[in-house]
Amino acid sequence: MSVLGEELELRCGATLPNRIAKAAMTEAMAGVEGVPGDTLRALYARWGAGGAGMLITGNVMVDRRYLERVGNVIFDARSPLEPSRRWAEEARAGGAKLVAQLSHPGRQCNRFVNPKPVAPSAVDAVDLMMFFTRPRALTSEEIDEVVARFAGAAATARRAGFDGVQIHAAHGYLLSQFLSPLTNLREDAWGGDLERRAALVRACVAAAREAGGPGFIVGVKLNSSDFQRGGFSQEDSMQVARWLDEDGVDFIEVSGGNYESMALLGAEEGGAFSKRTRDREVYFKDYAVEVRAHVDAPIMLTGGMRRGELMREVLSEGAADIIGLGRPFATDPEIARRLIEDDSAVAPSESPPVPPPSLKTMFGVGESAWYGEQLKRMGEGKDPDLSMGWLKPSRSYLTHEIFNAVRRRYKTDIEGEPAEV
Ligand SMILES: Cc1cc2nc3c(=O)[nH]c(=O)nc-3n(C[C@H](O)[C@H](O)[C@H](O)COP(=O)(O)O)c2cc1C
Repeated sequence: MSVLGEELELRCGATLPNRIAKAAMTEAMAGVEGVPGDTLRALYARWGAGGAGMLITGNVMVDRRYLERVGNVIFDARSPLEPSRRWAEEARAGGAKLVAQLSHPGRQCNRFVNPKPVAPSAVDAVDLMMFFTRPRALTSEEIDEVVARFAGAAATARRAGFDGVQIHAAHGYLLSQFLSPLTNLREDAWGGDLERRAALVRACVAAAREAGGPGFIVGVKLNSSDFQRGGFSQEDSMQVARWLDEDGVDFIEVSGGNYESMALLGAEEGGAFSKRTRDREVYFKDYAVEVRAHVDAPIMLTGGMRRGELMREVLSEGAADIIGLGRPFATDPEIARRLIEDDSAVAPSESPPVPPPSLKTMFGVGESAWYGEQLKRMGEGKDPDLSMGWLKPSRSYLTHEIFNAVRRRYKTDIEGEPAEV
């Protein structure tokens, strides 16, 4: 058995059975109330049986007023525990550790979900498909409440039987907005120099650690850079990784980009990556090697890797300790076992069909929608369909985003208190 099959003991004492983790992929299967049901359970039962060492859920929201998408699971005081318990039980049945990705979208909350998003500062709306509006700045009392919400959501995860949480501080969501000097213009304890910009993510980590208690995994997803001029830089990221290491996080997942600069999927548009980087397969490896030299916490590297040979190289070279895979799990739920058992295995690396450029503003969600549709198929007990075109997933994605979001706002009460710790 190769290095991919080796166990990894984390600082909290939990042991991952192997080095392959399913990275977070938003599922949007929890309905307008954000409660996990049959389809989400079926999807995770399938992934759980596929041999991964760790399954990180898609965005689980800490505040039901601000979702990344309708259909996100919500962990707050109103969340019933039993459905999440059943979800966790099925996902963990194959031995994988289950980690809930806790998240708040900040200004990346679309106008259909909530036309009045919040952010560190009242900066411009996110520039994507006219889906977003200008946010208002959070008050300092509201920032304290954000910390309480992350703590409450971690406590909910623990009660439901999850092995841990991952604090989402990447991809331009709220905690990532606090880190960036482009979106955090505050002059109080939460903004200004890097130390103050990093205070919120560190406070959320400490609060989740306290709420989760001994043996509970607390990881962080961090951008290596936002790939925006004047934004959160690689140098900033390295310093934040050092602080998180001192704070005792169990792992740091390295990613990059945001809605305005799609580096996370290896985008070439927006200038984040050259074709060479995409071809080279490991989007953030150079950064990981550097961060590894300064940080003791295990590093999970996610983005672009497909060949088992290369993943083994990344682990053997010490560039990372955990291999994160996203899209391969959407088209091959057995991929972890194949990679561990067969040294010549290669994860799927299809190029999904995307809408023609003339329709791009209308259907600009092409690739994510295509993968999302594959998750939906598995939730319905079907196999992924690699021959699927772009129209059906793009149409169903947009219908879902707009109609369900509006339905949710008129049909459900979207106020919700933080969960008790
Ligand atoms: C459909 C889809 C949904 C995603 N949702 C999330 C998410 O909820 N949270 C997150 O941190 N990253 C999300 N990502 C990014 C992945 O975690 C990962 O960083 C990215 O896909 C690159 O890894 P890969 O090349 O192995 O796919 C998503 C990616 C895809 C394709």
